[in-house]
Formats: sequence, C-alpha cells, structure tokens
Amino acid sequence: MDPSTSGFAQKLAEASQSHLLQFWNELSPEEQADLTHDLQGMDFQEINGFFKSAMETSSSSKQEKMDARMEPVPREVLGSVTRDRESLKDWELAGLHCVSQSKVAVLLLAGGQGTRLGVSYPKGMYDVGLPSHKTLFQIQAERIVKLQQLAEQKHKIKCCIPWYIMTSGRTMESTKEYFSKHNYFGLDKDNIIFFQQGMLPAMDYQGKIILENKGKLSMAPDGNGGLYRALGNQGIMDDMERRGVEYIHVYCVDNVLVKVADPAFVGFCVQKGADCGAKVVEKTNPTEAVGVVCKVDGRYQVVEYSEITLATAEKRSADGRLMFNSGNVANHFFSFSFLRDIVQKYEPKLQHHVAQKKIPYVNPQGQLIKPDKPNGIKMEKFVFDIFQFAKTFVVFEVLREDEFSPLKNADSQDGKDTPTTARHTLMSLHHRWVLNAGGHFIDENGRRVPAIPSLKDGTDLPIKCEISPLVSYGGEGLEELVKGREFHPTLMIDENGVHELVKNGV
Ligand code: UTP
Repeated sequence: MDPSTSGFAQKLAEASQSHLLQFWNELSPEEQADLTHDLQGMDFQEINGFFKSAMETSSSSKQEKMDARMEPVPREVLGSVTRDRESLKDWELAGLHCVSQSKVAVLLLAGGQGTRLGVSYPKGMYDVGLPSHKTLFQIQAERIVKLQQLAEQKHKIKCCIPWYIMTSGRTMESTKEYFSKHNYFGLDKDNIIFFQQGMLPAMDYQGKIILENKGKLSMAPDGNGGLYRALGNQGIMDDMERRGVEYIHVYCVDNVLVKVADPAFVGFCVQKGADCGAKVVEKTNPTEAVGVVCKVDGRYQVVEYSEITLATAEKRSADGRLMFNSGNVANHFFSFSFLRDIVQKYEPKLQHHVAQKKIPYVNPQGQLIKPDKPNGIKMEKFVFDIFQFAKTFVVFEVLREDEFSPLKNADSQDGKDTPTTARHTLMSLHHRWVLNAGGHFIDENGRRVPAIPSLKDGTDLPIKCEISPLVSYGGEGLEELVKGREFHPTLMIDENGVHELVKNGV
C-alpha cells in the first residue's frame, strides 16, 4: 500500500498523527505491511479524545486534595472476618450453596505487563519457588477444583465454576498454550474462557503517538479496567448469561494467597443484597501507599494515597484504628446484572487515568532513545472505577496475612512483594493450618519448633510447609492427616499423601 494514495495518510493527517509514517520509505515491505495492519485497526479520533479528556481530568484532579469530601466506610456495609466471627459460617454456607448451583464465576485479571517483575512471559506462569514449584496459575486452578468438590460434596450436586481469564495482546497465546500443555490443571477446558483486553498507544505530552521503532507504535494494555469494554466486545456477558452465572468474583493474577470464588465473601455479598463488593485488608500504617475504599461526595470509590494529605491519612477513629483503613486489594464481587449495566451503559463514561512513564522512542533522526525521566503517558482504566455506579455497595475486611500477598517485584534485599515474600506468606499460612489442625513441627534434634519462630539467630524464615489446594481450600480437612503428629520440615501435603521431603532425602 502506498499511504499517500490510499487515503490513509489523510486519515492520519486529520488526526495530527502523520509523523507515524515519517520512516515509511525506510521500512521493508514486511515492516510496511505490519505497520499498515496496526494502523488500520485504530480509531485515531477516539484515541485523541481519550488523550484530551484523560489529560484534563488528570490536571484538574491534581490541584485538589480529596480530604474534605471523604467519609469512611460505614459499619453497616462492612463485614469483617475478625469482627463478625459469629456470621462467618453462615456467609460461607450461603456462598458454597451459590457455588453448588453453578451461579458463581471467577474472572481473572491477567492482562498486565508485569514490568516490575521483569519476566518475558505472563506473570501467572511464574514459580515463586514453593517446594512443589507450582505456578500462580496452577495454584489458582487447583483452588477452583477443590472448591467445586467441596460444594459438590456438601450439596450432592455436580457444579462448575467458570473461569474467565483476561489476557492482553502480548500474553494471550502463551497463556492459552500453557494451560493446554498442562491439561487445564484438571479443570474442564470448556469452563475456562480466555479473552483479550484492548491496547492503547503511549503518547507524548502533546498527544502524538510514540513510535517504539521506525515501523512500530508503542502500545500497552488499557489498564485492568479495560475489562469492561472487553467483556462487551468479546461476547463474555452473553457467555455468562447462557451459563446462568449470577455472581462474579474478580481478582488479580499476582496474589499468591487469593481465595478464588471465596464462599465467605460471595455469601456475605449475596446476603447483603449487594450489586458490588470490595474485599479489603486493614491499612495500619498511615503512609502505606495503598488506595483506600471510602465514600467521596456520597459515592464509593478508591482514593489513592497521593490524593489525600498526611493529616487525613493519619486520622484515627475512637477505637484507635485508622479512619480510612479499608485498603483496596483489587478483589471484587459483582452481580451479573450490575456488571451487564456497567458494560452496556456506564463503561463509556469512565475516564482513563494518566500514568507518566519513561517510554523508549525513536527520534526524528531515527535514533532509539531511552529517556531517563518521564516523556509521555500511558492511559489506563481501573477495575474499581465503577464503584460509583453501585446501588448497594459492601466491603468485606479480611486478614492480610491470610489473603493478600501480591507478587509485584523481582527479588532484592528486603524487597516488598517479591517471589520470596509470596513464598514465605504462603508457607507461613500453611504452617498455621497444620498447627491449628493439631500437628507439630520438630527440628533436626527432635525438639518441637515453637509456634512462633524465634528471631534469635537473625532469621525469621518460615517453616517449610506446603499444602496442595487439592487437599485443602482454606485450612479445612487437615485434622485427619496431621492431628497429634510431628513433622520434620519440609512438609508437603498433596493428593498423594503427607511427605517429609528433607527427611527422605528429596
Ligand atoms: P498491576 O497494576 O500491578 O500491573 O496489575 P502488572 O502488569 O501486574 O505489573 P507492572 O505494573 O507492569 O509491574 C494488577 C493486576 O491487574 C492486571 C494485572 O495482570 C494484575 O493482575 N492488569 C493490569 C490487567 O489485567 N490489565 C492491565 O492493563 C493492567
């Protein structure tokens, strides 16, 4: 194609994006074909519109702090695994009943680029170094398998939890291949539905699309809130409707502790008649850079740490807890009808957020430049942007050490949210499960290891202990395996039994 005669150049000129063809004559025929293909798939007027409104919103929101408009989550919409212990069993039973009726689906957000972790493959395929070397995808798949079994045993009825997996252009093929190679980890292939979120170009501050090389645009996924557009244009809502899905649990791929389709959370939301729910962990440190769920001008939303003053972040309630302490962990409940309304009516109203980034680009001389300070923006929507549309919104507070340990960064000394912290939090949870079920650990001298590991030798490494999700979803069913027994770490409990790996020289 010759861009000057195809009307194509004119389309770019009208959108002030003609620079995208500046190296056209230097490209090989294959590169020209690829660039043409990429450009033809894009609606430049729409992209320019996104840029304009995202920049406007970002500059107006920067000027004003939220403090005066914020209210904490009222107690009546809050459920807590620690403060409402007497209701927990009921919620769990209600949720498990919904699962048994095949009314609950899970939706995994796995379209991110995982830049901080820095691996070239999808984050779900990451092995955090557990004794079993299971990946995040495998752990999540096995939790689904187990939950289906628990619901089936309890209600004597066959059920399924459909698993919708959102990927992006860069992760779709490898994710699908990975699942197929591992036989879908025991799940029925037909109940795992992959779909793809959209991508948007990175732009400079003048709204020009950035070229990452002479023939290629710099593209990135449109944020985890790209979910809502993708659900509509990939026919996912129709698929859910066909299957009779009524409740959807949405979560992120990187949380090694995630309770997929958590019956307690689902049951709580259903019993409260909620259309939208957010799972949160308590924020205890005022300066922790975590978004908090709260009300702003009477509507629910997540307020980022950077949007409030320190004084507000430090405010405490009468009980001594931080007033704004509902730390958002991107773990949500939606009713099907709420999600359908979002997809059909509200999605276009959501603004993109602006993330300033250092974006490698090719300059007019054709040289590749890696900037050392931000030179442009990526535009993203967030999954929680839709809270404002909920009619009955609820919040479910869970324990961080039991349920939230995200994998964000590569390992480093004292690093936060790394493979090491993910591995340790999971093993520490499983250690507690064994102790609670009446098991004990002994060291190489045959002495009982205290329940709270000693720090005297400078190490607070957890006991090496891993329990397959195929054996226990949330700590249940372990007594018959461990009660009154003593184990040398590394302890592994899986569908083949109880194993002490080191003792047996494995
Ligand atoms: P993060 O915002 O932590 O991004 O995603 P990330 O891709 O995992 O890592 P960085 O920031 O590049 O280092 C939180 C969750 O949202 C998903 C991610 O896959 C993760 O589960 N996500 C993020 C999407 O599904 N799509 C996106 O466009 C962005």
